Formats: sequence, C-alpha cells, structure tokens
Amino acid sequence: MIRSANLKDLDSLFEIENESFDYNSFALSRQNFIYHIKKNPLFVYEKESKICGYILLLSRKNSEKIKVYSIAVSKNFRGFGVASKLLEKSFLYALNEGKKFAKLEVRTDNTSAIKIYKKYNFLHVKTLKAYYPNKSDAFVMQKTLLF
Ligand SMILES: CC(C)(COP(=O)(O)OP(=O)(O)OC[C@H]1O[C@@H](n2cnc3c(N)ncnc32)[C@H](O)[C@@H]1OP(=O)(O)O)[C@@H](O)C(=O)NCCC(=O)NCCS
Repeated sequence: MIRSANLKDLDSLFEIENESFDYNSFALSRQNFIYHIKKNPLFVYEKESKICGYILLLSRKNSEKIKVYSIAVSKNFRGFGVASKLLEKSFLYALNEGKKFAKLEVRTDNTSAIKIYKKYNFLHVKTLKAYYPNKSDAFVMQKTLLF
C-alpha cells in the first residue's frame, strides 16, 4: 500500500535514509523529515506494517514541474519494484496537480537509480559539476508527464 507519510513513520524513514544516503548525498535529518511530512508530498510504501521505501516530492504552486527530491528503498526490499510503484504513484499525483514535467538530480555514478529513471523515460538534460559536497557531479533528468 502506498500512502502519505505521517509523524509515526519518522523512525522508519530515518532508518531507510541512513542506510541509503550519507552526508555527501544530502541525507535528510529527522528534522528535515518532520518538515517535509508537514509541508510536502511524501509517500511511503508499506507492506505488512513495515515501511519499505519512500518518495519525497517538491511541488511549487506556479511551476509546471514536480521535483522528485528524494527516493529510497530499504536494502532488504530493493529489487522488488517498490521504487517503481512509488514513482508511478508520484506521476499520477503530479498529473492530478496539473504538472507537465517531473525533474530530479542524481549522482552521475548512481547507476541503479539512473537505470530506473531511464526505464521511466527520464532524459538527461544537464550536468551539474561538483554538485555534491564531495564534488561529485549530478545529472539533471527530466520526464514529460503529458503528451
Ligand atoms: C534506486 C532505488 C530507489 C531503486 O529501488 P528498487 O525498489 O530496488 O527499484 P525497483 O525494484 O523498482 O527497480 C526498478 C528498476 O530500477 C533499476 N534497478 C534497480 N536496482 C538496480 C540495481 N541494483 N542495478 C541495476 N539496476 C537497478 C532496474 O532498471 C529496475 O528495473 P527492472 O527490474 O525492470 O530491471 C534503490 O536502489 C535505493 O534506495 N538506492 C539508494 C538510494 C538512492 O540512490 N536513491 C536515488 C537517489 S537519486
């Protein structure tokens, strides 16, 4: 089941974050999650009362784009389509909000993430040099939601 996150999910979200990202990948803090749960679309994938993954979107009122700010799946649940389901949910959410594009940034060496984005027709539109604290580059990728 995919549902909006609430404050009871905080421990699970933070655990997934810690096993998925580090400082150099802009890992979110507990405070960040509290903020985003209250302010932004944050969906969790729940299976048998266990939070397996999440996706965080940024959606500005006057923008045609939705930003996939972060997506992560707990290590034990990777490779089972959880991220795919979370992305599909996000595209539907974005369409309902009247958005035309989805955008994201991904580290250029994050091959598994790039593969999933390509699977969903995200295209590389730009490279941001030294985007991350350790000076790694990022690809900006974008997908059209409406045809
Ligand atoms: C990237 C991530 C979210 C994928 O989650 P997931 O639930 O395992 O993904 P799915 O099972 O839905 O896989 C969908 C597609 O992703 C790609 N993929 C996922 N894991 C992969 C891997 N280890 N190697 C290569 N491709 C992979 C494949 O294209 C796959 O499609 P396929 O099954 O048809 O081949 C997960 O690996 C993760 O949390 N990574 C750490 C956090 C992260 O890097 N987030 C992205 C930041 S931009």
